[in-house]
Amino acid sequence: MTQKTKNIQPLVRTNDPVMLVTGSAKRIGAAIIRAAHEQGYRVIIHCYHSEHEANTLANELNETWANSAVVILADLAVVNDTKALAQFVQTIMQAFGQLDVLVHNASRFYPSPLGSIDQSQWDELFLTNAKAPLLLSQAFYPYLKTQQGCIISLLDIHAHDKPFGNYAVYNMAKAAHRMMVQSLALDMAPDVRVNGVAPGVNILPEADSDQALDSEQQKSIIDSIPMQRIGKPDEIAHSVLYLAQASYVTGEIITVDGGRSLTLAGGS
Ligand SMILES: NC(=O)c1ccc[n+]([C@@H]2O[C@H](COP(=O)([O-])OP(=O)(O)OC[C@H]3O[C@@H](n4cnc5c(N)ncnc54)[C@H](OP(=O)(O)O)[C@@H]3O)[C@@H](O)[C@H]2O)c1
Repeated sequence: MTQKTKNIQPLVRTNDPVMLVTGSAKRIGAAIIRAAHEQGYRVIIHCYHSEHEANTLANELNETWANSAVVILADLAVVNDTKALAQFVQTIMQAFGQLDVLVHNASRFYPSPLGSIDQSQWDELFLTNAKAPLLLSQAFYPYLKTQQGCIISLLDIHAHDKPFGNYAVYNMAKAAHRMMVQSLALDMAPDVRVNGVAPGVNILPEADSDQALDSEQQKSIIDSIPMQRIGKPDEIAHSVLYLAQASYVTGEIITVDGGRSLTLAGGS
């Protein structure tokens, strides 16, 4: 298990709220970080393998506003070890001394076709998409309560009623995460609000990854979206920032999918 802290410097602006986004070195997580920073949040960029991208992002943000962004590197498997989790929480809290918004964004996403499902897929997909969000929420609850803060989870339109074909384990893990949002909204009220954003297809898998889609697959996805285009990470970030400020909204899940869930009865 790795934990490392970078870019922690003396603080200048101590009254601004603090947001932690898990898995935020790039893609949707980075868009949330940028949008929050633009709105005056000090930000904690959490990463695991993407340390270089995380540092580049933090440096860029610190150039526009000194000491406003830090990078914390950790495998979310820290939640499997009580001591490692306590150390992770301490590291996060030392960054700015407070936490106002916790965003569960980190995720693993890959197919698990029937007949090939094994323990390691189960462990990894449930760790990132369900277990870590729950145990991190519990661990940060006292700090969020002090700030009357909130938790925002990145879910999926396939976490409810419309499973994604060949992705049973991912679908199940996101469905558990969705229920976590609703359960914790009850258990943490009235001190901490808990909400979710359910993207459709808002950013395709990276072209050099083993999950990359060919142009025919991309076309068939676009054809299934009433808005006739893939969504943008900024459109997810916009909803996250709305929920961060929506003081009378809890237990809510906003779908941001260009209408895709209207056309799907399940399948890919
Ligand atoms: N992309 C979409 O269109 C879409 C659609 C539906 C739902 N969503 C949801 O929206 C969120 C963001 O989507 P995305 O596509 O931007 O996510 P992503 O690129 O698939 O993953 C985000 C980050 O999660 C981190 N991560 C994975 N395993 C980790 C671990 N064991 N420990 C620590 N960090 C770990 C990775 O950080 P490192 O790179 O630093 O290792 C990765 O960069 C996810 O929750 C996803 O399920 C996205």
